[in-house]
Amino acid sequence: MKERGRFITFEGGEGSGKSTQIRALADLLTHHGIACLHTREPGGSVGAEKIRALIVRGKTCDWDVVSEYLLLSAARRDHLVRTIRPALESGTWVVCDRYMDSSRVYQGLRGLDNAFMEEVYAQISQSLEPDLTFVLDVDPRVGLTRAAARQDAENRFEKMGSAFHAQVREAFKDLARENPARCVLVNADQDVHALTKIIMAEIESRFLQKRDAPCPSTHA
Ligand code: TYD
Repeated sequence: MKERGRFITFEGGEGSGKSTQIRALADLLTHHGIACLHTREPGGSVGAEKIRALIVRGKTCDWDVVSEYLLLSAARRDHLVRTIRPALESGTWVVCDRYMDSSRVYQGLRGLDNAFMEEVYAQISQSLEPDLTFVLDVDPRVGLTRAAARQDAENRFEKMGSAFHAQVREAFKDLARENPARCVLVNADQDVHALTKIIMAEIESRFLQKRDAPCPSTHA
């Protein structure tokens, strides 16, 4: 039976450079001969991309936090069933731009009950957690400036204000500290290539060394 693929997520505030790092990582993994799927949330499947447009565009007040989380969960369920699980089961690694930790942080800060959130998540996912999560930490003033430069309409969360985004930063740091086995907190305010090296070194030490280890000698 084929070995299950690894599930790696990238988290962090707005404009923390996740997409650039994910692209670099996907290229490096492909170079190592590892089949790799680059995906994102909200989105990552046909249905989830349709739901994404409802969540990330428009006015901040368009949804209350319960509706917002249920929309995110519907998108997440579709993404899991149609994209993530089939890929992992076929041995493909999945590298995902945001996942459930973003709900824990963003919807958590918007006041959603934690127990409700985890219960819904357990039901839709059978409690799947990533094998590894990189939390990219950057000053939200830097991140929001970068995000605003994109000038796209997907800015519903960007508009939630600088105080909210300062809390997002702290909540991601707390989450990383509370889950040290799964999460690696990295300073994203540094040279892009230096950061890619740190990320790849972590992947190599966790997952690739065993895989690449030479076969034990059969000679006595
Ligand atoms: P994304 O396009 O990745 O934003 P960015 O590129 O600026 O990091 O994600 C869109 C927004 O969706 C982002 O502002 C955070 C929000 N979001 C949540 O609030 N909860 C979630 O569970 C997810 C996946 C995203």
